[in-house]
Amino acid sequence: MGRLVVVSNRVADPRKTASGGLAVALGQALEASGGLWFGWSGKVVENGTPGEGDLHRQTAGNVQLVTVDLSREDHDSYYLGYSNGVLWPVFHYRLDLADFDAGFIGGYRRVNQMFARKLAALLRPDDVIWVHDYHLIPLAAELRNMGCQQRMGFFLHIPLPPPLILAAVPEHDWLMRSLFAYDLVGFQSDADVAHFSRYVGTETSADILGEHEFRAFGKTLQVQSFPIGIDVDEFIALGQAREAQDMYNQIRDEYSRRRLLLGVERMDYSKGLPQRLKAFRQLLQNYPENLGSATLIQIAAPSRESVDAYAALRQELESLCGAINGNFGELDWMPVRYIHRSVARKRLPGLYRAASVALVTPLRDGMNLVAKEFIAAQDPEDPGVLVLSRFAGAAEQMRDALLVNPYDTTRTAETIQRALQMPLEERQHRHQALLQNIREHDVHWWRHRFLSALAAVPGG
Ligand code: UDP
Ligand code: G6P
Repeated sequence: MGRLVVVSNRVADPRKTASGGLAVALGQALEASGGLWFGWSGKVVENGTPGEGDLHRQTAGNVQLVTVDLSREDHDSYYLGYSNGVLWPVFHYRLDLADFDAGFIGGYRRVNQMFARKLAALLRPDDVIWVHDYHLIPLAAELRNMGCQQRMGFFLHIPLPPPLILAAVPEHDWLMRSLFAYDLVGFQSDADVAHFSRYVGTETSADILGEHEFRAFGKTLQVQSFPIGIDVDEFIALGQAREAQDMYNQIRDEYSRRRLLLGVERMDYSKGLPQRLKAFRQLLQNYPENLGSATLIQIAAPSRESVDAYAALRQELESLCGAINGNFGELDWMPVRYIHRSVARKRLPGLYRAASVALVTPLRDGMNLVAKEFIAAQDPEDPGVLVLSRFAGAAEQMRDALLVNPYDTTRTAETIQRALQMPLEERQHRHQALLQNIREHDVHWWRHRFLSALAAVPGG
């Protein structure tokens, strides 16, 4: 196989910390194979547009990072506007939060064209191109327009909603047609693949050639689910390093007489944070034995703060946390420790390990890597319990977690109580099954399966 060229909006040095599943997983996948990683530098040029030839080049181990800046206008319309104001909410089933401003699509097209132009100049004929996520759906179509004939695959890290929700995006025809410029399209779950198939069946005149094969616009496209995983061994090793051990010791000492519940995510409305806090409040109300003991540490890493829906969420969370602490707190015990900052990846395994229960309860999530990291970080002799939303992609694989409907506050509170009281033997049994599952389906398995399927596409 030729050189691997990965393209994504977010690019991060694989050896450094990153909040967000995509950057973490791609860093791990690329480190294993080497190659080129192309995307946005994270920088915004305030006045004017970045020069046509401006590329930042950096070498990180066997990975070459090549990034470009965005102008303020492009950043606001392509990244904040269309990607995170239209596609992110709609793909997470939140039409109510979408901002269908007709001005955004121009920036989305422009940046995809600019990425294609700059990338095309770097490509070799036998490169294999792997494009990631909703920011870059039309990238292959733009590259094809420029004459690029390399094999191209696309992986969507977020959910694909059912056709009638997707159809709310004014440009849905164009977006879905653009997918047919790839040779292979991958989704996180079988549910997403089923939605794609239903979309193609009802909204286009494509031929469904088989469960995974579709023909339209003169192109044949393979579509499959490739659930993303973590690097389990790397995460276990991270847990043994000093930073994680220090974190573990510190938290364990502090909570030796208490029960610790933990939530870790970017502050995002898809993660179900208000619903989780309400379930925790109900736990304290319905099971008073937890008063003075159960403590929820909620890490909510800042994310996309200039999008209105994110700012509104922050206010809601701060008011809920304040109300819970005000109503239930004692001089020597606060039920919620809410932290609006990110935690360095190196310290996370220690935090996960100190927790009795992890609350991973998104309203929708493509996969959710935190659920997998929590399992990898546990002590197999005395593991914590994972409470997982049935609406996370991870729920298709992690059947031995305690699955909940995060909209059902009472049952979620009941399930958290069950997790807190679970006997050691059941905890060990569930943990063992979950660990085996995330080991079998780790990030290397994911990369290998996707790239093998891409290599096998006939005449791609
Ligand atoms: N993460 C982190 N520090 C934080 C919060 C998150 O390093 O404070 C990492 C976390 O360990 C995980 C990723 O960010 O690897 C989040 O991925 P996930 O799939 O759970 O959610 P996403 O942010 O991609 O929606
Ligand atoms: C999710 C998306 C990624 C994105 C990440 C962090 O994981 O699927 O594409 O990179 O969130 O969000 P940000 O907007 O900071 O890149």
